Amino acid sequence: MTLMTRAAPAALLIGLSAPAMAQMAEPTTPPDPPPFAAQGEPNFVNRADIFEFRALDSYDQPEFMDAFVEAGMLPPVEERLPEEPMVYSADNMPDGAGAYGDVMRHVIGGRPEGWNYIAGQSQGWGGIDIGMYECLTRTGPLFMVNPEDLEPLPNLAKSWEWSDDGMQLTVNLVKGAKWSDGDPFDAEDVMFYWDHHVMDPEITPLNGANPETFGQGTTLEMVDDYTVRFTFTTERPEQVLYSMAYGTFCPGPSHILAPEHPANNPDNSYEDYRNAFPPDFLNFPVMGAWVPVEYRADDIVVLRRNPYYWKVDSEGNQLPYLNEMHYRLSTWADRDVQAVAGTGDFSNLEQAENYVESLRRAAEDDSPARLEFGPRIIGYSLYMNLSGNGWGEPDERAQAVRELNRDIDFRIAVSTALDRVRLGESLVKGPFTAQYPGGLYAGTSYYDKDSTVFYPHSIEAAKAHFEAAGLEDTDGDGFYNWPEGSPAGDGNVQITLLANTDYQTDRNLAEGVVAMMEEAGIKVSLNLMAGNDRDATRDSGRYDWRVERNTSELITVVQNTSELASTGPRTNPVHYANDAGELDLLPFEQELADTVTAFMETNDPEERAELMKQYQKLYTENLYGIGLTQYPGALIINKRFANIPSGAPIFMFNWAEDNIIRERVYVPEDQQADHELYPEALPGAPGSDGPVTAG
Ligand code: GLA
Ligand code: CA
Repeated sequence: MTLMTRAAPAALLIGLSAPAMAQMAEPTTPPDPPPFAAQGEPNFVNRADIFEFRALDSYDQPEFMDAFVEAGMLPPVEERLPEEPMVYSADNMPDGAGAYGDVMRHVIGGRPEGWNYIAGQSQGWGGIDIGMYECLTRTGPLFMVNPEDLEPLPNLAKSWEWSDDGMQLTVNLVKGAKWSDGDPFDAEDVMFYWDHHVMDPEITPLNGANPETFGQGTTLEMVDDYTVRFTFTTERPEQVLYSMAYGTFCPGPSHILAPEHPANNPDNSYEDYRNAFPPDFLNFPVMGAWVPVEYRADDIVVLRRNPYYWKVDSEGNQLPYLNEMHYRLSTWADRDVQAVAGTGDFSNLEQAENYVESLRRAAEDDSPARLEFGPRIIGYSLYMNLSGNGWGEPDERAQAVRELNRDIDFRIAVSTALDRVRLGESLVKGPFTAQYPGGLYAGTSYYDKDSTVFYPHSIEAAKAHFEAAGLEDTDGDGFYNWPEGSPAGDGNVQITLLANTDYQTDRNLAEGVVAMMEEAGIKVSLNLMAGNDRDATRDSGRYDWRVERNTSELITVVQNTSELASTGPRTNPVHYANDAGELDLLPFEQELADTVTAFMETNDPEERAELMKQYQKLYTENLYGIGLTQYPGALIINKRFANIPSGAPIFMFNWAEDNIIRERVYVPEDQQADHELYPEALPGAPGSDGPVTAG
């Protein structure tokens, strides 16, 4: 589907050479999104209804595993479990306690770089890392927690206590849990993650944990094998419980990783460490429910059940119920196609281009999959690089772009040049898309319409603001030239736009922006890259503009809060510090950062609401990011799966792969299909060939 026809030469459309009439933009509040009702309502419960930690009288495992115990390849199940495992209450399960067997067949568009998540490697997304790495707390399932009881769920941290003065938080780890290879999980793993990843400026874990994530000046110490203690510089920053969740506090197996870390291995560079566990390093130890046992490039990753998984159901059955997980290495668009066709099992329907066809297919009587829309929280923005400090070593052209980016008139010009209605409709027609001014999404809890500034589409206004930013089409070819005396020369302004080719939506929106800029007299060319390269390019500052799908902090605010602004040297890639660690924040960026920091340091609900109004005002008025479009996503899941919670959004605190609690999802026996590639097998030793069978 192509979207924008190439624009006619800009001069014809907007008459750049005609005398300029200063028609500056008139900011307003955004139009209300067209109504779109989410299809499923969660059954709201309290956190304690979902699970607790306790010892049961006896435990069970899939029958095929008995042979492993008999052959001495595995200790009996009760010895593999913690003293008090996490026990999911069958009463809280939508369909009750489950049966063992079957597979969830995922299809993903990303590619695994390797398994070293905590050193920044991507596993290909689409739920692989979410399933392999468990975190101290958990937030995905919070979509179904009563608002009065809203606080992260315990996970590897089974409980915590605040000191009387609120300056310390003591965290109790689940006792006696083991990595999937049988090595004990303990405070050593937690401290290795903290000391040598969070606090090491040379490393950033995949989802961007850094010191600011946990509050300025926060320290962590080990108390004993199963206890660690945070010390804060402010009183009772409850926010930290969210930072302990995915993806900022998910420790890796220190027994495998530590020997490769430069702190312990002087022969290894940080790059060596990052790459020490490539995708074909099989049986990498995890705390998650499934272990990678097979990898075929551009084909598939297969994971088998973790025999040491530390969660059970209230009948004592060790989880997960599903024996295997597949991740077909294909495209994200193919994930939708396969899920509705029944050759795949799961998709987050999020690329609006696929909505009409997917809806049509899912509505047929013999459709193998269910499809349920949620709230309108898939959103895209155009981000400009606001670092003027040399981050990413810009050449003269790129530096000149950054100077334009830092000019509010230039940003307003770009925002008003965008026709958001047309952009949305270029993806899908109908009630799905809404004009998105940027910042917090309409419909989320901290959103306030009156604090949201919207610059409506107007080519006239765009022109006036480009001129106010010092731009003029000096050679009359229909495109603005660099301002006089610019080190970039006297030719046309030339901007590159970074976008992710893994998604058709990213590509289409980026093309739409290019076409609309061309109409407004600004030359933009695309820099399209596959996801992993795009991320690396962004995070090293080698971009002018980028179009990007937003992450969860703009929905929940309490998740990845420090990334809402430049609260530290590397918290928001709109503006990172240079090599000398210097930020050169614009005054509004400093205010944004101070607002976010103040938010993280208070628990007062009214103050927090007020701070987020300020944030939204500063953000949208100054166009920290330029919103493009926002629309709802749908969860597509094969009908044979049971225990899918109703109203599970594809994205909120986390992605649906976490929200649906896959470890307790099952397929009723009479509906089990023959999809297991390694029936009766379990993961082998770390680094060995693949899965093993007993006997
Ligand atoms: C990608 C996909 C999302 C989701 C996440 C999970 O970003 O686009 O739908 O599956 O991975 O990490
Ligand atoms: Ca020109």
